[in-house]
Amino acid sequence: MPKLVSYVVVPLKKAQSVKEFLIKNNLLDHDSAFKKNEDSISFPVLRAVDVVKRKFPFVRVENGDLIVKSQRVKKGTLKEALAKQLSSRELMRLRRAYDVVGSIAILEVPPEFEQKAHLLASSILESHKNIKTVLCKAGAHAGEFRTQPMKFLAGVDTRETIHVESGTRIKLDVEKVYYSVRLGTERLRIAQEVKPGESVLVMFSGCGPYPLVLAKKSKAVRIVGIEMNPRAHEYGLENVKINKVKNVKLLQGDVIKVAHELQEKFDRVVMPLPKSAGDFLDSALFVAKKGAVIHLYDFLKEGEFEEAHKKIRQACKEHGVACKILRTVKCGQHAPRTFRVCVDFVVE
Ligand SMILES: C[S@@+](CC[C@H](N)C(=O)[O-])C[C@H]1O[C@@H](n2cnc3c(N)ncnc32)[C@H](O)[C@@H]1O
Repeated sequence: MPKLVSYVVVPLKKAQSVKEFLIKNNLLDHDSAFKKNEDSISFPVLRAVDVVKRKFPFVRVENGDLIVKSQRVKKGTLKEALAKQLSSRELMRLRRAYDVVGSIAILEVPPEFEQKAHLLASSILESHKNIKTVLCKAGAHAGEFRTQPMKFLAGVDTRETIHVESGTRIKLDVEKVYYSVRLGTERLRIAQEVKPGESVLVMFSGCGPYPLVLAKKSKAVRIVGIEMNPRAHEYGLENVKINKVKNVKLLQGDVIKVAHELQEKFDRVVMPLPKSAGDFLDSALFVAKKGAVIHLYDFLKEGEFEEAHKKIRQACKEHGVACKILRTVKCGQHAPRTFRVCVDFVVE
């Protein structure tokens, strides 16, 4: 006998508010799938729904056969790979996908899945031929190099790979070097801002993704990168060779020291160190030509972006220059309600 469940039937146009209400009040049955037709959607519910009818008088309640959710898992996702091994309730809780850096998949395993981490890893290896290694994050980005500890799960035990981003090949050790595939779109945005003939300084250049993408995707004449982590810098140098770019020069050391020793000024300065880029604004202003554009990254809560503008205005005032904020761009989510933000401003 098929199992019966109760469904709340809602006109399609009003479905979103009802769905949010069901989730908020723990009424949605995550084990069963929705049913949809041309003008209505039926949400499976766990228990008495009087409260739903009182709040939304237009809904209808009816009983129907349970449709198991795992039958409807999307192709090509981690969920697909796990559908056979986890219950549909467990699948619902596994919200985040994994990152793929070159041939390495990096999982973020929630505590309740730790026991099953190896199972997840083997599933990924089996279903994605381009992935040779599966690691999982074993801590947060930390220290001045912003590196992240990783734990080996399955496949070839290595941390080194080559990732292709915007037509560049980026070789790195994912544990010894900071690199985020999620910032690829943002790097392209900066490349599109660069005008022909510009000279660009990339502070905190890591293994070189910004300099390489700017070299490939803009008409900058000269790009200088500064990076303190010796391993990241070594990879950066190798990446310059691998990509055969001629207009990139990478320097190793602390931005504050190296920038002040540089005998040149730049049309554009990129500052991709959101945790503390504000501390380096004085160095950025020191190397910026009049009219230069500076891209300052920061982690900010929604509604508090003005904090970064204040920091910029204060630094410019102390440096004796005027500035104009051009735009503030959200370029990723860092934590709930906290975003990675880039403020573009011009030094006047
Ligand atoms: C968030 S990562 C960004 C790396 C790279 N730009 C990218 O997008 O992948 C910041 C980098 O800044 C480097 N760093 C931190 N403090 C520094 C300093 N004072 N001088 C030079 N590099 C620094 C770290 O080692 C790290 O590689």
